[in-house]
Amino acid sequence: MSMCFKERAGIRWGHSLYFASSHIKQQAVHQAGISSTRSKMSHGRGALIVLEGVDKAGKTTQCKKLVNALIESGRPAEIMRFPDRTTQIGQLINAYLEKKSNLEDHVVHLLFSANRWELEPLMRKKLEQGISLVVDRYAFSGVAFTSAKPGFSLEWCMKPDVGLPKPDLVLFLQLHPLDAAQRGQYGSERYESSDFQKVVLQRFEQLMKDKSLNWQVINAAKSIEDLHAEIKSHSETAITVAEFQPIGKLWK
Ligand SMILES: Nc1ncnc2c1ncn2[C@@H]1O[C@H](COP(=O)(O)OP(=O)(O)OP(=O)(O)O)[C@@H](O)[C@H]1O
Ligand SMILES: [Mg+2]
Repeated sequence: MSMCFKERAGIRWGHSLYFASSHIKQQAVHQAGISSTRSKMSHGRGALIVLEGVDKAGKTTQCKKLVNALIESGRPAEIMRFPDRTTQIGQLINAYLEKKSNLEDHVVHLLFSANRWELEPLMRKKLEQGISLVVDRYAFSGVAFTSAKPGFSLEWCMKPDVGLPKPDLVLFLQLHPLDAAQRGQYGSERYESSDFQKVVLQRFEQLMKDKSLNWQVINAAKSIEDLHAEIKSHSETAITVAEFQPIGKLWK
C-alpha cells in the first residue's frame, strides 16, 4: 500500500476545503459552499462517506473528484485522509511507515486509531454543520492492516475504533491484483508487498460481512470517469438519507 505523502501545492487535506484546479475558481465555489452550508444547516447534517479499497484502486483519485463534484453541485463537502500525517501522532505514524522508526505492532495500531480519534471532534462538528466528509481510508484500513499481521484478531483490532463516527456509506474499490500492478509498482513504504496485501484483502472481506454498515463494492477496473459517476450516485443517495438521521457510532 502506498501511503506516501501526496500533498501538493494548493491541495490541503483534512482541515480545510480541497482546492483542485484553479484556486480562484475554487475559492468562489468555497464561498458558495459556505453560504450553502449556512442555508443547509437548518436542513440537516452532512454525510460521512468513506473510500476504502485495495492498493492503487483509485481511492485518492476518486476522493478528490467526488469532493469537487459535490461542491460544484452546491453540496458542502471536504476531504480527509487517514492517517492524517500532519498531527503529532500522524508524524509518529509517518516515520513508522517510511521505516525511519520501529514501533511495536500493538502500539502502531493504537496510534492509527488515536489519529482518527484526535480528529473525531472536528469530524463531528463539520458533519453537524452540514458538511459531508469524503474520507480516504478509515478504521477499516486500520483493522485490515493490523489484523493481517500474525497474532492479531479482527475483534481486538476493531475495539479501539468502536464509537467513532459511523460512515453513512463505505465504498470499497475492488481491483484485481493484475490490474492494480499495471497502475504502478509498490513503493518502499511498510506494508507494500503483494503477499501482505492479499491477507489485507481477506480481512477487508471479513469486515464487509457486517450488514449494519452501508458497504458498496465497486468494480474499480472501470475508467476514472465511469467510476466517478457510480461513486457520485451512491454518495448523493447517502447524503439525502443521512440528512435527517443522527450520526451513528461505528461497531456499536
Ligand atoms: N480508473 C482508473 N483507471 C486507470 N488508472 C487509474 C484509475 N484510477 C486511478 N488510476 C491511476 O492509478 C494510480 C493509483 O491511483 P490512486 O493513487 O488514486 O489509488 P489509491 O487507491 O489512492 O492508491 P494507494 O492505495 O496507493 O493510496 C494513479 O496513477 C492513478 O492515476
Ligand atoms: Mg491513495
